Amino acid sequence: MDTPRIVIDERRLDTNIEDMAVMARKAGVALRPHIKSHKLPQVAHKQLAAGACGITVAKLGEAEVMAEHGIKDIFLANEVMGSEKFERLSALARRIRLAVGVDSLEGAQALAEGIRAHTGLDVLIEVDSGLRRCGVEPGREVVSLAQEISRLENLHLRGIFTHAGHSYGAADRAELEKIALAEGKVMVESARELRQAGIDIEVVSVGATPTVAISAFTPGVTEIRPGNYVFYDAMQLALGVIPSIEYCSLRVYSTVISHPAPKRWVLDAGSKALSLDKGAHGHSGVEGHGIIIGQPKLRIVRLSEEHGVAEGESMLQVGDVVEIVPNHACTVVNLFDEVEVWQGLQRQVWEVAARGKSR
Ligand SMILES: Cc1ncc(COP(=O)(O)O)c(C=O)c1O
Repeated sequence: MDTPRIVIDERRLDTNIEDMAVMARKAGVALRPHIKSHKLPQVAHKQLAAGACGITVAKLGEAEVMAEHGIKDIFLANEVMGSEKFERLSALARRIRLAVGVDSLEGAQALAEGIRAHTGLDVLIEVDSGLRRCGVEPGREVVSLAQEISRLENLHLRGIFTHAGHSYGAADRAELEKIALAEGKVMVESARELRQAGIDIEVVSVGATPTVAISAFTPGVTEIRPGNYVFYDAMQLALGVIPSIEYCSLRVYSTVISHPAPKRWVLDAGSKALSLDKGAHGHSGVEGHGIIIGQPKLRIVRLSEEHGVAEGESMLQVGDVVEIVPNHACTVVNLFDEVEVWQGLQRQVWEVAARGKSR
């Protein structure tokens, strides 16, 4: 086998997709999965077939690729700025049902102006439920931005959304639960304030794989947008979101190319295959740069671009191939042109069609 490569266990992938769809149905919420995690139209179609109402993307380029692959309902859960992008947004909005995030009056005005030629666009206000990235403060700030938006001709306010990404930095289960409860609560309270102010909204959207099992059940939440759950990874395992590594459907296969010292093995998977990601939101609990399956005493301690250095104890020899569950599956997929998908002995190769879409 030529390495490094990504191998996806299709049965596990399908189970993860189905489990989330079942949970959404139980909670009585719409499921609009974030495809930034897989960037694969084939997986997006599986999610839709399992009951998703549409998809979420992070970038306009991802939305364009998914639309080319027949997906007709997309939420771009991000703020978009710049005349070129507004033109692309307008063109896309003519072909599919599209919504985009906003979190400022300046942004909303520029958007309304930029899509002038188009008849209108749905927007959702991003609310900061604690991540401290984009988003207005819950409550009053949401109401005043919504009032401003209602005065803009080309925009229609579909709802509000948040992403509790700070849950990835939770020190323990108790903190994670607190974040998930707060995520649902601030959104439902903001929705109530909006309605009290006479602004009707349809969507109250939350979503992060670590929090969704709790926030989905907050009465008043209408939609969830988990992404990573299709694969899971070492970070989700460290956070206790999944009980065991068997839930992880994605692995990086890598070859031992050197065993230069008794306790050191060098793999052909470096940062260009595993990424240096240890979590963007503080303490993530991961040790090293991924988990080597079946090698409990071996840790990937260092990565350079083409080399992964593992230290510890092992019987591995030069030429052996190992399976690695990466720290963060989403950033790893973005590094590969294609993934191999295994269903028992059957293999398919899927192009990572929406990779590298940074614009
Ligand atoms: C706005 C937004 N929504 C949803 C998600 C999905 O989160 P996760 O991958 O934890 O499920 C992300 C992930 O970065 C995001 O940025």
